[in-house]
Amino acid sequence: MHKTQATEQASGDPLAGHLPQPELGLPLVITANAPDMALAPWLEVHRKEVMAARRQHGALCFRGFAVDEAQAFEDAARVIAPDLQCEYLGQSPRRKLSNYVFTSTELPPHYPIPQHAEMSFYYDRAPHSLFFWCATASRFGGATPLTDLRRVVQALDPEVRQAFEQRGVRHIRAYEGPRAKRSWDVFQFKRWHEVYGTEDKSEVERIAAEAGDEVVWGPNDRLTLYSTHPAFRHHPETGELAWFNHSQVMHLTATPHELFRQARLLKSPRLLAAATALKAIATAKHRLFPAEKQSYHVTFADGGEIPARMIRHVCDVIWDHTVVMPWQRGDVLAIDNASVAHGRMPFRGERLVAVAWA
Ligand SMILES: [Fe+2]
Repeated sequence: MHKTQATEQASGDPLAGHLPQPELGLPLVITANAPDMALAPWLEVHRKEVMAARRQHGALCFRGFAVDEAQAFEDAARVIAPDLQCEYLGQSPRRKLSNYVFTSTELPPHYPIPQHAEMSFYYDRAPHSLFFWCATASRFGGATPLTDLRRVVQALDPEVRQAFEQRGVRHIRAYEGPRAKRSWDVFQFKRWHEVYGTEDKSEVERIAAEAGDEVVWGPNDRLTLYSTHPAFRHHPETGELAWFNHSQVMHLTATPHELFRQARLLKSPRLLAAATALKAIATAKHRLFPAEKQSYHVTFADGGEIPARMIRHVCDVIWDHTVVMPWQRGDVLAIDNASVAHGRMPFRGERLVAVAWA
């Protein structure tokens, strides 16, 4: 086994400023020292050392191991996290590949997925571990950037940190019902029976209550969920404080802001046009409808609007601490979801990145 910090590459690359730097130690790359070495048995032998490394670095990348199919990935993930889960109450459309392995997202290639801790809106019930496996690397873009959320808290402007610390956050997610027409809303990816796998409203209420969500039914079976909790969370093992909420993803101004950033980073006129259109839509939605009527949005826990400038600042700090390492086929990422965020860069060409979680 060779342990290396990923090093800076191609200086002409527009992402050069975000390529992994040794001093950040994110991710720690662990390379197989022989071809065709299966990952799961190797992890069983080295589990203690691997767990300590993941706790410290927040994310590990296993490279060069023989991980050729979803089951091999699931077996490897299970060594680190024996309690793998298969119920997903998150935002992304996904496709099942094996019992506990799914496509990471079916969102269109140009759609940016900002950095986030997986399902942080469930707070203490959010996954503790997250795994990605690259079955097919796209020919352009498609990286899964990583951000150390412990560093983000430390780097926040004191005024912004204090506001989030004192006021907490309230996530709002709304879904149309099973018989509703497909929504024109570009922020709606699923209807509620697709989230919960049932059309039984009492079952939905039971699952939502277990997850800590407040449920409000609206006209035409529209479901609105509220998750209210602190903006930061202490790591359950180390006690380190980390940014742990979805405001930089679900605040109405966040997605256009992210798309503008990626358009600049990737020098893409297409993304710039999409960002301009999305900003116009988000601004109109923000002005026309209160928070409770949005398909998703985040306010402070007391219902007060989070100023757009604060969201922009959080996004900027997150990007200052984000590394973008291109995928290689067969790579497996093991992420400590309590300390490291992930996202997805736009891409072109075939891409298959799978996910498992616990
Ligand atoms: Fe995610």
